[in-house]
Amino acid sequence: MNYAEAEKMLKSCGQEHVLAYWKKLGKKERESLLKQIATIEPANVKYCQKALVAGADVADSSKGKAPKVATLKGASLKKAIAVGEAELREGRVAALLVAGGQGSRLGYDGPKGCYEIGPITNAPLFYFHARKILARTLRYGATIPFYVMTSEANNAATVECFKENDYFGLNPKDVFFFTQGMWPGMTKEGKIILDEPGHVFMSPDGHGGLLAALKRSGALADMKKRGVKSVFFFQVDNPLVEIADPAFIGYHVQQKSEYSLKLCAKRDPFEKVGMPMQFGKSFRMVEYTEMSKEQCTRKNKDGSLYFLYGSPAIHVFDREFLEREASKAMPLHLAFKKIPFVGEGGKVVKPSEPNGYKFEKFIFDILPNAKKAAFLAFDQKDEFSPVKNAEGGDSPATCRADMQAKWKKWLSEAGVEVKAGVPVEIDPVYALDADELKTLGLNLFAF
Ligand code: UD1
Repeated sequence: MNYAEAEKMLKSCGQEHVLAYWKKLGKKERESLLKQIATIEPANVKYCQKALVAGADVADSSKGKAPKVATLKGASLKKAIAVGEAELREGRVAALLVAGGQGSRLGYDGPKGCYEIGPITNAPLFYFHARKILARTLRYGATIPFYVMTSEANNAATVECFKENDYFGLNPKDVFFFTQGMWPGMTKEGKIILDEPGHVFMSPDGHGGLLAALKRSGALADMKKRGVKSVFFFQVDNPLVEIADPAFIGYHVQQKSEYSLKLCAKRDPFEKVGMPMQFGKSFRMVEYTEMSKEQCTRKNKDGSLYFLYGSPAIHVFDREFLEREASKAMPLHLAFKKIPFVGEGGKVVKPSEPNGYKFEKFIFDILPNAKKAAFLAFDQKDEFSPVKNAEGGDSPATCRADMQAKWKKWLSEAGVEVKAGVPVEIDPVYALDADELKTLGLNLFAF
């Protein structure tokens, strides 16, 4: 894109101020500004402006009902596992990781997936995800292609982390990196914010940007070519997740579901997790911020929580459903933030109060469009302990403790009691679950 093209495009959506400092910019700054402008689509600018006019109105959730959530036990569990295992053996399952977030709450500079979480080895979050995929691939003798969504800010570092670690044992041909889109930040008046005279403030378009990015990058086409039917979705911050778990895949297939969600009982009524609710015949995810105190604490007659189940963002999607949704517009969520801007005389100002909007799309906004949705309960301790905050709850310390508690339970089931305070770490390729550990004759070892 050259200057004239940039000017024309910006004028078409009332954003010509983005070039206000052009004359003061050096060659390199001009080039990088033009590169940025080339990524801005006038239709998206108008889309954001529309969202600003509509405001951050959230749909009323007061009439929402708790969905029916299945629990698998005994024969029903065995059946679901058998169906899921058949899917895995046939190579009809893919793993899809969203890792484009900025991890600002954790206060970690690099990609969150590079955060070192292994209690003994300091292995990064990516290690546990990739090794689980490798272990399942080995177990079922069929590839589980791994699609990793990054953002412009962390793509290079993410790819480097995989390369440095020899893809954690995975075949590089089966790992597909793709970057999500970036949206410019805007003032209340719908003007794009420059955070430097030659730079537009941009932020990732949310994990809902996944759909457009899957299509744009060719990842969806790649899935189709490989014969993938079920896509296991997970977030980078949760090393406890059981990726491509056969019971969940099997349940999804048995239910002929287009969008299945694993749900777990909330650890407290106000836990910061989203919750699917039923409205008439369809379902919608209601974020914790949208729930009233009454909804959070509502009780059944037996004293249990009415809205008991929260979403740890572990989903299985039907690939064709993703294809259908990838061409549709998604709703935008607005976040009012402190965004540095270029003030009088071209000086950069760091505001003390929020002054501009970031725009995000959320993947779970496609839930109402699913022809069939399914909900499956699981035990939080087994599969959900995210690394979100630097300290306190959902921090590296609580996550490492939960990882070790899970492994110690497996070891105990295999007949090995580990003394309190002794650290434990298990490579998923060594043992993917308690049953596998039992087959390894560990009682020969003393801990
Ligand atoms: C999210 C969910 C919440 C769920 C919780 C479980 C939202 C709005 N809420 O909350 O319903 O109960 O996780 O842990 O998502 N990401 C991208 N690109 C982006 C933004 C995020 O790839 O532009 C990825 C992150 O890398 C991460 C995941 O999405 O893997 C979740 O993002 P995060 O901001 O941590 O979500 P939460 O607010 O914690």
